[in-house]
Amino acid sequence: MNVHAAALAKAYPFDEATSAFAGDVIGDLARHPKRLSPKYFYDATGSELFEQITVLPEYYPTRTELGILRDRGDEIAAIIPGGAALVEFGAGATPTARLLLEHCEFAAYVPVAISGDFLKAQADGLRKDFPDLGIYPVAADFTTPFALPEAVATMPKVGFFPGSTLGNFEPSEALAFLRSARQILGHGAQMIIGVDLEKDERVLYDAYNDAAGVTARFNLNVLVRINRELGGNFDLSGFTHRSIYNRDRHRIEMHLISRKAQTVRILGNTFAFRPGESIHTENSYKYSLPRFTALARSAGWTVRESWTDANTMFSVHALVAD
Ligand code: AVI
Repeated sequence: MNVHAAALAKAYPFDEATSAFAGDVIGDLARHPKRLSPKYFYDATGSELFEQITVLPEYYPTRTELGILRDRGDEIAAIIPGGAALVEFGAGATPTARLLLEHCEFAAYVPVAISGDFLKAQADGLRKDFPDLGIYPVAADFTTPFALPEAVATMPKVGFFPGSTLGNFEPSEALAFLRSARQILGHGAQMIIGVDLEKDERVLYDAYNDAAGVTARFNLNVLVRINRELGGNFDLSGFTHRSIYNRDRHRIEMHLISRKAQTVRILGNTFAFRPGESIHTENSYKYSLPRFTALARSAGWTVRESWTDANTMFSVHALVAD
């Protein structure tokens, strides 16, 4: 628990998750420049908006990754050992894991995600379609160490981290995650990971500034969430969504820009905004194939295969633990 969360916990009767949210928000809005963590995008509305993003015409990553997994399904199946357990880090509602389960003969599926309710619903759906598959959900924060279920202890392990979620980590966090996954899965494990690639800046810009404004709603929803859960008084019309490509740092940055001079109150704290001032809400790093290979290597993984689509928009890698 951070210092802000500890102080707030005394003053407000929040549950643990809301205390942590409150502590992060108060701390991050007091920084210069202001920021908010992208992990708070995903309440029920944010998750629904993200699902809408994945099917937008401008947002190429999800469909391109699915295309690669479909086209390369036989090659992927050929390198998966028989009777293996598929461990999905941050299991989501997207159909990506299903595709792997259909193509390859896994003995078990271990979806790992924070929300136990969501995991249960997802597991129930899969049990109907894959009656012979052992499904062992783990409710955990997949960025920190957790134990795999006893039932898969003797099975070969294959990690799965699709969707270029790795891109939302700072480079040091991406390295730490890959090291921790290597630790959790163990020696000789494999990992299938989807990573978005550097490309024409216009394509990137459009993917994060869609014409229908869904990404803008997704970004602004974090303010809605602060208002609802923490009693904040953000005036939503006072902020506008902006995504830019930062070429030097190889990343899309999402910001919420204050349209005017204004103050916002949250849990007894006042935050002043200048006109044009930003709250930096997300980074989405884009990798070149050599930069990703080097990152994986320094985390104890060797890239066994890398597949891309015909336009080299997105990449899927098979890694082997050293
Ligand atoms: C979840 N993640 C990989 C998405 C991305 O592309 O970085 C989140 C997102 N943000 C805006 N659009 C999509």
